[in-house]
Amino acid sequence: MCRLDIIAGCTGGGSNFSGIALPFLGDSIINNDKLILKAIEPSACPSLTKGKYAYDFGDTGQMTPLTKMHTLGSQFVPSGFHAGGLRYHGMAPLVSHLVNEGFIIPEAYNQTDIFKAGLLFARAEGIIPAPEANHAVKGAIESALDCKLKGEKKTILFNLCGHGYFDMQAYIDYFDNKLFDHEYSDNEIAMALSGLPAV
Ligand SMILES: Cc1ncc(COP(=O)(O)O)c(C=O)c1O
Repeated sequence: MCRLDIIAGCTGGGSNFSGIALPFLGDSIINNDKLILKAIEPSACPSLTKGKYAYDFGDTGQMTPLTKMHTLGSQFVPSGFHAGGLRYHGMAPLVSHLVNEGFIIPEAYNQTDIFKAGLLFARAEGIIPAPEANHAVKGAIESALDCKLKGEKKTILFNLCGHGYFDMQAYIDYFDNKLFDHEYSDNEIAMALSGLPAV
């Protein structure tokens, strides 16, 4: 099997990232390969980078059993941004646990930056990525740039988890400068988390 150094995937609830990254984790731990797994999320819904690792409901209706995960609170409503599939307030418990144990590195990027990365990819490869997938593209490009800076050769795998042909309006908005970035302040995050169930 080709030796991988870095795997990047976008994270909404964690399933597509887990599908591409976790099958490689066991061997990399056994062989001490130092494989880097990067979970890339939107700055506008930063459950891994700014959320709390706590018990929470999986749904906004608060009907599910409580699950320990990185969460922004089940009532968290992200600002309008185009990667609709990445608007979930929480994260899969397995991904959350692996982030907590240091096996997965989370990174967050603004939507204008991920669209810029997606366009670079589209122009180079002839495939328009979904806005969600642009996060993985951005993670891969940042990793490659880091390698370039350090003079390192690494094999980077990323998950192009969807095409963007249903999302052309998002690209039109990007070209029209109608996309805005939103990063949450500590206060806003604290307010969102104040509704966490007491366990
Ligand atoms: C293209 C694409 N990627 C990713 C996701 C969601 O990511 P995850 O697998 O982390 O839930 C969605 C969800 O709608 C999606 O449409």
